[in-house]
Amino acid sequence: MSGRFWFDEIAEFLGSAYLRNAFTKGTDQEVEFLVDALGIEAGHRVLDVGCGPGRHSLALARRGVAVVGVDHSREFLDLARATAEVEHLGATFAELDVRELSYDAEFDAAICLCQGGFGLLGGRDEPDVFRRIAAALRPGGRLALSAFSASFAVRFIEPGETFDPATGVLHERSTVRGPDGAEREFDLWTTCFTPRELELLAASAGLRVDGVYGVTPGRYRAEPPTLDAPELLLLARREQRIRS
Ligand SMILES: C[S@@+](CC[C@H](N)C(=O)[O-])C[C@H]1O[C@@H](n2cnc3c(N)ncnc32)[C@H](O)[C@@H]1O
Repeated sequence: MSGRFWFDEIAEFLGSAYLRNAFTKGTDQEVEFLVDALGIEAGHRVLDVGCGPGRHSLALARRGVAVVGVDHSREFLDLARATAEVEHLGATFAELDVRELSYDAEFDAAICLCQGGFGLLGGRDEPDVFRRIAAALRPGGRLALSAFSASFAVRFIEPGETFDPATGVLHERSTVRGPDGAEREFDLWTTCFTPRELELLAASAGLRVDGVYGVTPGRYRAEPPTLDAPELLLLARREQRIRS
């Protein structure tokens, strides 16, 4: 595995407190929507890219899906593994930098949610990582990827935040609360996207776009992006015939 990644320190500090964040409370709705939208069934193999403590992976595994979660944070992976073990779930978790993903046409579906391993890369490596995620899908395999919306980020930019139009990266200082209630400030760099960028990334990676929607955590739905929707949700599928 490559060296330390800037988010690792945040994950280390947060540990299980990550799951206290309000945006994690809508996991069941998100999974319900994705199972339907991606046609995920028991027995399918699903890759969760930047799985964190595994909230989506574990929910899918509870439905009989064979999930592989990958993430760079050992703390988050340990949390995911502990739950999978206690509940005897068919989910495995691997410590990996998404810039080194090398799965080849192995998965029926891939999910990459809440920036997970795509939206925290600093605005340079995203096309390559996107291609790696796409390559992990079998022909016909489906993708759901969420990303922070550039128009929302700019429209609702807050004092102290900066948005770099060249890279689409939003920088903020954020106060984070650990499991024991202690607080610390961290820098966060979130790469933001337009719907069109996600469509172009998908097309260049050999995926057919089913839709790009405007969503809020816990309220996934197939509705067009609006300036008030903080996240974009791309649904796409790998072409049946893979072009060389
Ligand atoms: C905001 S969390 C989202 C986690 C999970 N997908 C969710 O929805 O709760 C972002 C995750 O991406 C992981 N991540 C960020 N950059 C990564 C990289 N280069 N390789 C692997 N994982 C990465 C972080 O460790 C973190 O777990």
